Amino acid sequence: MRFDRQVLHRLAWSVCALGLGAAALPAQGRSMMHRDSTTAEVMQVVHQLMVNHDKLRRSVVNLPNGVRTVTESDDSTMVTQIQRHVIMTGAFVAAGHDPNLPMSTPALHGVLQNGKKIVRRAQVTTKGMEVVETSDDPATVALLQQHAAEITELVKRGMAAMHGGAMAAAEPAAAPASAPASAPSAMQHMPGMTHQPGMTHEPPTATASARPTRAGQEAFATIAEIVRLLDADPTTDWSKVDLEALRAHLRDMDDVTLRAEVRMTPVEGGAVFDVQGTGRVREAIRRMALSHGATIAPSDGFTWTAVSTATGARVTIRATRTDDRTMQSRIRALGFVGMLTLGDHHTVHHLGIANGSMRGSHQHH
Ligand code: HEM
Repeated sequence: MRFDRQVLHRLAWSVCALGLGAAALPAQGRSMMHRDSTTAEVMQVVHQLMVNHDKLRRSVVNLPNGVRTVTESDDSTMVTQIQRHVIMTGAFVAAGHDPNLPMSTPALHGVLQNGKKIVRRAQVTTKGMEVVETSDDPATVALLQQHAAEITELVKRGMAAMHGGAMAAAEPAAAPASAPASAPSAMQHMPGMTHQPGMTHEPPTATASARPTRAGQEAFATIAEIVRLLDADPTTDWSKVDLEALRAHLRDMDDVTLRAEVRMTPVEGGAVFDVQGTGRVREAIRRMALSHGATIAPSDGFTWTAVSTATGARVTIRATRTDDRTMQSRIRALGFVGMLTLGDHHTVHHLGIANGSMRGSHQHH
């Protein structure tokens, strides 16, 4: 069984970029990913999180429209696993795709099936991940809070949280939005996993450290983070790692973001952007504008077509549905660079460029 193309595409971005390319994706055609291998990769990370739950800590704040979570560890391997897990599962949420993972709870099924109603912001912290998930739909908000509480329970108790039989038919928590996340019902047991009934639960701690944390330069900080992820990933193939490709891409980003001239012309369904520059900037515009269309999935709600011009590129962005007035005005409001930021893949894409798994697919260089 295969995923549909959009889901495959988003997963390919995430999974390639996470250094799992060789295991999860055949060399030719990143989109030929099998559901089983993807599930296996996701569950391999989940397993690591479960058996090392006592090295994790987590804080959850229920928001009126969602949830804010911080999941961290002092163990650098677990930091990477947390980050991989959040990025990998983000692809499912973004696509509204429920892969029916082992151990899924009703709340998790609900979250994934309502993924399109969720806005998910995931940010790497020094020791893990901060995730903010919000929704305009109250039922989805309740599911998010329920699932967040389930993860907290897994962090507290590991596999022990799986016991207690089948998951109750989890009516999503009807707790007031301001209530602290409550303990969820147990999740279903996954055969083959070792039991780690650690019971300690570290209270959430601040991420602040006595050591300075600022890298001084954003591209440098991005590269440093990628180096740490590559180092922590036992599957990293050093013969393919190419940080110069990442540096070149970051320079393209700098040129396009700060140095390109953009002229917008509203057209039926969206806008045409003439993006112009000279020398290196012109080449960067072409690389980014022409390759970006391949990252847009139909579920994004807009189309992106780009052609090279004498001074850069002309990009036409239109709402997929002719009656989607919100998208049409959003395209004009966000403009070229705002539209370029959309999608869930950008940071993982950097890892893909650096570890070589993007070569031949969406690599800009
Ligand atoms: C100790 C174990 C686990 C940890 C630390 C963990 C951590 C996380 C974190 C930090 C998120 C982002 C949402 C949030 O923070 O509330 C998340 C989401 C997710 N997790 Fe886990 N997880 C664990 C176990 C599992 C298991 C057993 C599964 C498989 C059924 C799973 C599948 C997912 C999926 C599909 C999402 C996306 C849904 C969403 O973002 O709300 N996780 N997990």
